[in-house]
Amino acid sequence: MKQTALFPGSFDPITNGHIDLLRRAVKLFEKVIVTVAINNRKDSVFSGDERVALIRECIREEPWYDQVEIEEFSGLLIDFARSKGATVLLRGVRQISDFEYEFRMALTNRRLAPEIDTLFLMPDEQLTFISASIVKEVAYWGGDLSSFVPAPVAKALHEKFESGS
Ligand code: PNS
Repeated sequence: MKQTALFPGSFDPITNGHIDLLRRAVKLFEKVIVTVAINNRKDSVFSGDERVALIRECIREEPWYDQVEIEEFSGLLIDFARSKGATVLLRGVRQISDFEYEFRMALTNRRLAPEIDTLFLMPDEQLTFISASIVKEVAYWGGDLSSFVPAPVAKALHEKFESGS
């Protein structure tokens, strides 16, 4: 599709699940803007700049890299979408338990911006249990992250937790 889609999230950090969704998204849209929320009232392990740099490092060798932009944003997502001319918001749904929150958020965004729709994508079923919070928990206790996140993210997480920040 010709439209630009936003793929918003905290990406603290990006996981194999996010990358799987991104791989699907670039097949559907000419341009996908990975939109890194930096003030969504959650404590984050990585700064906005670190999250952007990690995402870039993880996807820069992909053949579809040129279709992707990575941007930080703060404020309301629909304002950012409008400023980019994006009419679609992409969100991943891993399990039914994700759906209630996603459904509320999608309908809120649609009430605020009726011209913007949310499209839900499902990751590969092997990845449905992966979340950034689970990954951080494993990293905190020094566990093997190799099947949850790309190597640069695993390295960055271990460095963060080793340095105690
Ligand atoms: O990866 P996450 O933490 O589930 O992403 C949530 C995110 C950043 C997409 C959401 O919190 C968001 O859009 N925050 C910006 C404020 C906003 O526009 N909220 C939507 C109205 S409910």
